[in-house]
Amino acid sequence: MCGIIGVVGSNDTLATLLQGLERLEYRGYDSAGIALVRSGHTWRARTAAGTESVAALRVECEDNAPQGYRSGIGHTRWATHGAPEAENAHPHLDCSGHVAIIHNGIIENHTELRVELRERGHVFTSVTDTEVVAHLVEEMRSTGLELLDAVRHALVRVRGAFAIAVMDATEPDVIVAARRISPLVVGTSPGVSYLASDVPAILGRATAFYAVNDDEIVRLGPEGFRAVDLEGAPVRLRQLHIDWDLETAEKGGFDDFMSKEIAEQPTAVRSTLLDRRRRDGTIVFDELRISDQELREVQRVVLVACGTSLHAAHVAKYVIERWSRLSVDVDIASEYRYRDPIVEIGTLVIGVSQSGETIDTIQAIREAQRRGARVVAISNIVDSSLAREADAVIYTRAGLEVSVASTKAFVAQVAALELLALRLAQLRETLTPEEIERNLQGLNEVGDHIATALSRSDDVNAVAQQLLEARDYFFIGRHVGFPTALEGALKLKEITYLHAEGYAAGELKHGPLALIEPGVIVVAVTTDPQMHEKILSNVAEVKARGATVIAVATDDDEKIDAVADFVLRVPACDPMYSPMIDIVPLQLLAYSLARGLGRNVDRPRNLAKTVTVE
Ligand code: M6R
Repeated sequence: MCGIIGVVGSNDTLATLLQGLERLEYRGYDSAGIALVRSGHTWRARTAAGTESVAALRVECEDNAPQGYRSGIGHTRWATHGAPEAENAHPHLDCSGHVAIIHNGIIENHTELRVELRERGHVFTSVTDTEVVAHLVEEMRSTGLELLDAVRHALVRVRGAFAIAVMDATEPDVIVAARRISPLVVGTSPGVSYLASDVPAILGRATAFYAVNDDEIVRLGPEGFRAVDLEGAPVRLRQLHIDWDLETAEKGGFDDFMSKEIAEQPTAVRSTLLDRRRRDGTIVFDELRISDQELREVQRVVLVACGTSLHAAHVAKYVIERWSRLSVDVDIASEYRYRDPIVEIGTLVIGVSQSGETIDTIQAIREAQRRGARVVAISNIVDSSLAREADAVIYTRAGLEVSVASTKAFVAQVAALELLALRLAQLRETLTPEEIERNLQGLNEVGDHIATALSRSDDVNAVAQQLLEARDYFFIGRHVGFPTALEGALKLKEITYLHAEGYAAGELKHGPLALIEPGVIVVAVTTDPQMHEKILSNVAEVKARGATVIAVATDDDEKIDAVADFVLRVPACDPMYSPMIDIVPLQLLAYSLARGLGRNVDRPRNLAKTVTVE
């Protein structure tokens, strides 16, 4: 959940590291730090200024950093072990001050290693799990090993997850980086080598990019890199095809990434749907490495995911069951692994993850594979860990999502899952060719409907302005309106820090209704014609108890104005596609309230974009 970056051989070291950290802030931002290394000297700066840590680090470096260092490493932290304070910020040093290390992940056996190292005289200056690795490398170096082998031997002692980068001022112009579970990429340009948690950190600087696999160790120098496995045997890193441009990694004229990514949703859906239908009507996924016969034999589907991706999975349950007539379960990924799940012949497990690096989801699909399931990944990041470990993958093509609050990934995931549902229906012949064509046509219109919903942002802002004093929100919906409500509530709580809960509208009367009183806001998703009467009854129930009601309603709904206090209109479409459209005013509402309350929408407190710890 932290961001790491390193560069070696550069004339622009400090600028490269600071820019990279700014682009990695979405991974964590409790504190930040940098180490510049040259022969015999390490200069280090660390700041802990909450969401402004990287900005504070820039000021500190611009005032005090020495010139002429061609290599260095940088880190932006999401605290796990040790409070978000400067002494726990990375880089960490060994006793000599020559070895500097940055780390993303968790060293699970750090307590026993710390005891052991202390007994041998090492002095610790932080309470982090990471610092043990600096001291382990120090010991290995003292036996005369070069840095690559010192890191390799140190890692044999370590359990847990890591992407690390290590420098030693006594072996300058070298960075040794290694990966187990946590993501790591390497980049090169003539005379310079880079490493980072994610490609965007080094976009525009590196010209070629390479993926590091688990238990691979890379030695980077100005001349390029070489990689070995834990035994020291050479390995080749796989080159990545990256078609993102710099604009993708920057805000492109928007105030923040969240508003940019909300605006990109029509494109995210259209791109995800593009070229998925052959002339004869067959739905195809070029990247899906699973045969039609295997898909035909599927008896049951289990979706595993977290957060927003979990809500997209909830939508898929309704759609797959209706169109493909398969029984579908949705599981919270962090629960699936630990509850002895049942995997029978014909169980297809679908792991849904924007980043493809969420450790809970990766562990869930590993568990499913161990039990014999075939696994399909829905991932937005090409070549992500999830994509590589699954038996098959479908990529959403939402483009890079930077804001911690996920928006365009959600609509793209729903689009991809609905396509998969149609493919299953095609193979199982549970829909006629005409029904499949009609649905494909309907899906193709979703991008335009989202654009229409986006064009009404002023209406949403006007409602938000009147609700800045409200503190409690309930989001309700029925059928696919239920996962939409869950996602609307998640967006609101995540970026406004207000209390928000999502409920199936029919559940309110079984308990939560006791919380409804004047001052509470109920946001009702009322767009499904078949559910309309029922949800209007639920709206009446909360109105009778004093709640203020915001309804998300279709343009043709003539009854809603009489029962809701505020109405946010969206274009009407088949309810099965509606979550992709109905979520738009809910995202805009959360965004507008967060801005009105002075929140940092891209960097909500306590969170990180990619959650690589359990
Ligand atoms: O990368 P993933 O889709 O696996 O991430 C899952 C969740 O961590 C993520 O959706 C999270 O809930 C978002 N911050 C919600 O906006």
